[in-house]
Amino acid sequence: MSSLDPASVAGLDDLRRLARRRLPRLLFDYIDGGAGDDAGVRHNRAAFAAYRLRPRYLVDVSQRDTSTTLWGRRYSMPVGIAPVGLVGLFRANGESLLARAAQQADVPYVLSGASIASIEEAAQAAPRHTWYQLYPAREPRVSLDLVHRAAQAQIEVLVLTVDLPVPARRHRDIRNRFDYNVRLTPALLLDGLRHPAWTLEYLRHGGLPSFGSWARYTRPGASAREVGEYFVAQSYVTQTWRDVEAYRRAWPGRLVIKGIQHPDDARRAATLGVDGVIVSNHGGRQLDCLPSALVVLPEIRAAAGTDMVVMADGGVRSGSDVAIALCRGADFVFVGRPPVYGVAAAGQAGAARALEILREEFDLVLGQLGLANARELEPALLVPAGHAAGGPL
Ligand SMILES: Cc1cc2nc3c(=O)[nH]c(=O)nc-3n(C[C@H](O)[C@H](O)[C@H](O)COP(=O)(O)O)c2cc1C
Repeated sequence: MSSLDPASVAGLDDLRRLARRRLPRLLFDYIDGGAGDDAGVRHNRAAFAAYRLRPRYLVDVSQRDTSTTLWGRRYSMPVGIAPVGLVGLFRANGESLLARAAQQADVPYVLSGASIASIEEAAQAAPRHTWYQLYPAREPRVSLDLVHRAAQAQIEVLVLTVDLPVPARRHRDIRNRFDYNVRLTPALLLDGLRHPAWTLEYLRHGGLPSFGSWARYTRPGASAREVGEYFVAQSYVTQTWRDVEAYRRAWPGRLVIKGIQHPDDARRAATLGVDGVIVSNHGGRQLDCLPSALVVLPEIRAAAGTDMVVMADGGVRSGSDVAIALCRGADFVFVGRPPVYGVAAAGQAGAARALEILREEFDLVLGQLGLANARELEPALLVPAGHAAGGPL
């Protein structure tokens, strides 16, 4: 396992810097970029900068508790790892390393539907901390089999991502000719020579890895490229509320919809027995003009009612960001890129460092604000940043 000098990673941005150094440009851009020219990615960050947190002093905060509870289950903090595809390409066994880092920190890890590790491998790496995010297949029997396998693997939470009705246009990926079936073109070879640590590991593990959960639906002995082509051909399926009803019937555990932005959708999910939503614009990767979760959270919180868990992601990069999202109405938040930069740069230690930083910072923010626990975060603690954000709101 790679080691990491904690002094070289004071904040999450340091992990981004280290990942940029290790990964070929094509892969770093795929992770870092967003739809169009990244306007949605920038908007997600700017949304946090629009708020300040106002402290109350002269309160005893010597005992603080960062933990939170979801559906009766305690986690060490209200932060989990969002589903990110292809992590096993950025770092060999990347998904299992993320799952173990999550287990070590006692937070949930959502395995992506586009993962290199299979459902079974990730669940085995961290049995009680792995959730599964479903990308449904064009063939319904395949989607239902994936759901069945997640249940068999004792996974407790199924996350249905709904915000990809069509493929995104990401300018960095277009310029780099990025393809899920990464091809060793002369340009990538040159890029690889400039990033030998990644390239040597890639070659040592046999080159292009396969989409682990999908291999069994192709012909026996299919190459990674064939499995990749099958996965792409099965992707971007039309989904409707009828599918949500079907998954609700098929899935015995907690069901979460990811990608919700409209309060009416949250209301509809609640009526269908969905247990939670993740308010998300997919990290600014689907359409560059979608609102940040932070902007729409209060409306969704109001629409979701008291029974549904409301979670959010997009642009969370510090403990104060976690606190701001909770003040805006989230019960829980997820981080996508930071732990992935961590695992790409330094394996499990890098992902663990991302979570450790967030927990330490979140604990510090609670103390500074005069709060003993995360439940005390509320809208009244927020004030507009005004001139600090570059102008009045
Ligand atoms: C490289 C990359 C791949 C992603 N793949 C998936 C995916 O497979 N499934 C999914 O639901 N979301 C995916 N997402 C979106 C994340 O789950 C999450 O919504 C987003 O990254 C949160 O924003 P943040 O990166 O600013 O924290 C991906 C995000 C990135 C950066």
